[in-house]
Amino acid sequence: MSIKTATLNGVATIEIARPEKKNALTVAMYQAMSDALVAAKADPAVRAVLITGQPGIFTSGNDIEDFMTRAPGQGSDAMDSPVFRFMRALLDCDKPVVAAVTGAAIGIGTTMLLHCDFVYVADDARLAMPFVALGLVPEFASSLVVPQLMGHRRAAEKLLLGDPFTAEQAVDCGIANAVLAASEVVNHARRVAERFNQLPPGAVREAKQLLRGPQHAAIVQTIRTEGEIFGRRLKSPEAMEAFQAFFQKRKPDFSRF
Ligand code: COA
Repeated sequence: MSIKTATLNGVATIEIARPEKKNALTVAMYQAMSDALVAAKADPAVRAVLITGQPGIFTSGNDIEDFMTRAPGQGSDAMDSPVFRFMRALLDCDKPVVAAVTGAAIGIGTTMLLHCDFVYVADDARLAMPFVALGLVPEFASSLVVPQLMGHRRAAEKLLLGDPFTAEQAVDCGIANAVLAASEVVNHARRVAERFNQLPPGAVREAKQLLRGPQHAAIVQTIRTEGEIFGRRLKSPEAMEAFQAFFQKRKPDFSRF
């Protein structure tokens, strides 16, 4: 199984473990992560959730083969797909979610961080949201949250050009809390998650709800709007060219569009 889950000392850990494919996320993996988040929310022994990847790779994002063959579709179909269920479970998780990022966090690898409460990045972390270069559009409210975090101009570099950015830049633009040595980042994130064992869970839950505030409704609405366009674009000739180019290990050619 390429998602490993374990609950230890009040912390439910979700570990992405498909290193041979750079932790690319398949439909089955989204389902497993979504199930783990729902179970963590329901289990009173769990006080916080920790999401990690493997040394040198958090995740290379959605499995591009799945994009080509098992696209989530459009409309209400899409909203019920495993990737939407996972993101919904992350948004609905009323316990603190801590992410520890080593290596690359691409596409949804970065998008999911926007919806975690604490993000710790290793000095080797490299984040990117290359949706446009893949013929796609931003997803899961990144078009709303990223400009809010860092302003339109820096958001445009990341969401229109898809420029990758470093761990320091992730902290500077408000996506991450702190940079740590790669060997330390998971331990540090775990220690932060374990601090919730000493805090009253009801107050934590209600404070997290308040922190989300009125923004939550806007996020849900934006996810729906983006999802419609994303689902349509997945089947576009531009996206097909980008996906084929990836597997053929060549540069995409958009000159005919
Ligand atoms: N979907 C499907 N397969 C993927 C993948 C993805 N998102 N990312 C990596 N892989 C596969 C590669 O096809 C390759 O498979 P192979 O060994 O059968 O050829 C294997 O994982 C190793 O990847 P490779 O590209 O050779 O590793 P690398 O170290 O040179 O580069 C990345 C690592 C993460 C920079 C690079 O794989 C990458 O850019 N991946 C795609 C990222 C992306 O665009 N994601 C979608 C965002 S919406």
